[in-house]
Amino acid sequence: VPEPTDAPGRLRIRPYDPQRAADRAAVLEICLKTGDAGADASAGYPDPRELTERYASPYLDLAPELAFLSEEPGGDVVGYVLGASDTRTFARRFAERESSLGAAARAEHSAAMLIPEIAAFPAHLHVDLLPEAQGRGGGRMLVETLVDALRPRGVPGVHLVVDPRNTGALAFYPRVGFAESRRTRDGVVFVRPLGQNRIGQARTSDEGDISAISSRASSEIAPTTLSPPTQGQRSNQ
Ligand SMILES: CC(C)(COP(=O)(O)OP(=O)(O)OC[C@H]1O[C@@H](n2cnc3c(N)ncnc32)[C@H](O)[C@@H]1OP(=O)(O)O)[C@@H](O)C(=O)NCCC(=O)NCCS
Repeated sequence: VPEPTDAPGRLRIRPYDPQRAADRAAVLEICLKTGDAGADASAGYPDPRELTERYASPYLDLAPELAFLSEEPGGDVVGYVLGASDTRTFARRFAERESSLGAAARAEHSAAMLIPEIAAFPAHLHVDLLPEAQGRGGGRMLVETLVDALRPRGVPGVHLVVDPRNTGALAFYPRVGFAESRRTRDGVVFVRPLGQNRIGQARTSDEGDISAISSRASSEIAPTTLSPPTQGQRSNQ
């Protein structure tokens, strides 16, 4: 976790606190406000839990130690990163976890997490900031904070899926160490190897590793292993 800074106007990062109801409420609110390919999804979700029980609450409950918040100097929470270190395990626990989603919807969402990339990049993440907090370095800090938490757990790589309409996110991930792995009809899959925690050379060496690992990963993905996109399935924002 980067050192907190009190410099005016600088966003800072802190761990999610499961004891603070306001932390949870902020995450759910931000999930909704950024849930339509990066834009406000409120209008499309009369019951916001249709969104938050897929993309926010399960992470807070099943992996709270991999949730980090960005806040304004005054303490307002304006962004988060949520992660799962092992997507296969997370998907199973997601399906088992009671929620407002029915068991069938949970099973469908869970199955959609099991993309071929999880073999080499088993972790995944969601990062979202409110509009006023975007473009201020918070997204990069959140991603690096999660990466710093995943490395000591021995996680070899992280992936995520972007809604193809989300042009901001499509521009962002390559700037923070991700390489495009594959485009499906409803999502662009990005991957980032985590490598060793070598202080001072992580970015350069990671970039060197990316092409090697992602080209190996994609050559291992036989077309027959790709499941067709599910009707109505939403990519990871
Ligand atoms: C996408 C998002 C997480 C990026 O975080 P951010 O704090 O805005 O981005 P940062 O300020 O850390 O920018 C990091 C780099 O990405 C680039 N970048 C970020 N957003 C960009 C955009 N919309 N267009 C082009 N480049 C962008 C920055 O220029 C910067 O590049 P550089 O440092 O190499 O010059 C954030 O804008 C966001 O939450 N958007 C709405 C929700 C969303 O789309 N989440 C992702 C769902 S997959």
